[in-house]
Amino acid sequence: MNQTQFIEALENQKVIPVIVLEELEDAIPTANALLKGGISFMEITFRTDCAKEAIACVSKEVSEICVGAGTILNVEDAKRAVEAGASFIVTPGYSKEVVMWCKENDIAVLPGVATPTEIMYAIQDKCNPIKLFPVEELGGPRYCKTMHSVFPALTFIPSGGINDSNYEAYLNTPGIVAVGGSWFASRAMIQQKQFEEITKHAKQISKK
Ligand code: 3PG
Repeated sequence: MNQTQFIEALENQKVIPVIVLEELEDAIPTANALLKGGISFMEITFRTDCAKEAIACVSKEVSEICVGAGTILNVEDAKRAVEAGASFIVTPGYSKEVVMWCKENDIAVLPGVATPTEIMYAIQDKCNPIKLFPVEELGGPRYCKTMHSVFPALTFIPSGGINDSNYEAYLNTPGIVAVGGSWFASRAMIQQKQFEEITKHAKQISKK
């Protein structure tokens, strides 16, 4: 997926579920639970041993889901994720090397930033949108509003600490097209195999 397709898809979707999978067997049920709930994006984080295989399974078996890789820290992992079938790459902090590799290979990339200085690095490398992380610790919607007033040409996707009580405030903040988060498909919910609960919760969010 290239950057333009990624932006278009995000504008429709409004939410990127950040998924931490401990067990490979939970990958397909989680993807299907999200899909049934009206969400066709899934960021599988490279924080667990089965992440690469999980991306491979979902990309092969649940074609309606756009699966990407999160918590990518270096080019090597970006390559492994894309080989497995990841359609987009998300990083928690700013890595010029990962951004450039994605651009050279026409892979959508959502780099994480926290400060105005990092945002300026992202601008120099022509990144848009960018992920503001960890947004609740940074100051929440007020911080996003301030960053939007300084960098009005940028689109932000905040993540980190977003939940049922605050995600609408983020989506109503100028400059924000979508939010990222694990709150409606958390590591604990997946471990407890609460797939129906995930679908129910996803439906409430995707209807907004
Ligand atoms: C991310 O990588 O975007 C975050 O881990 C998501 O944060 P959350 O678990 O607080 O939603």
